[in-house]
Amino acid sequence: MKPVFLKRPVLASIVIILSAVAISVFLTKKEHSLQKTASGDFRKKLSEAALSQAAVENAPVTFLITAVFDRTTKKYGQRGLPYVLMEAGHAAQNLLLQAESLDMGAVPIGAFSSQKISELIQLSPKAQPLYLIPVGYFPDQ
Ligand SMILES: Cc1cc2nc3c(=O)[nH]c(=O)nc-3n(C[C@H](O)[C@H](O)[C@H](O)COP(=O)(O)O)c2cc1C
Repeated sequence: MKPVFLKRPVLASIVIILSAVAISVFLTKKEHSLQKTASGDFRKKLSEAALSQAAVENAPVTFLITAVFDRTTKKYGQRGLPYVLMEAGHAAQNLLLQAESLDMGAVPIGAFSSQKISELIQLSPKAQPLYLIPVGYFPDQ
């Protein structure tokens, strides 16, 4: 029997990946590809925007989940607000599970300055940073 694929709704969030060498945006509409938007190592500045948390400074890659609330509130009204946060939580949980399955460490971080992060990566004013998730190997690996 042929598999049935459900039409996926537009993701309420934009996921941005900050690695030791570049910043990339995860594009869901273009076959789940990455688009590089800047080159360089932004980890030190990123960590400064997150109360100098060591995980953000040391991780080889940090995922930033942002929310574009009106994508969802256009359809669901005010009830769309928690939907966006729920979806960000689902995405974060998937990431944590995947990291765990690869014997890697990951930590969801909410303590940061939204303004500093937005400035650092020149985020569209529509997108609000919600979650930073540094991912890496444990020190004894
Ligand atoms: C929304 C949210 C924001 C969080 N922000 C931070 C943070 O900024 N820094 C941090 O060390 N832990 C933060 N935590 C907690 C960690 O993600 C993690 O849950 C906690 O360290 C417990 O992990 P453990 O059970 O593996 O010890 C946050 C948790 C949540 C749910």
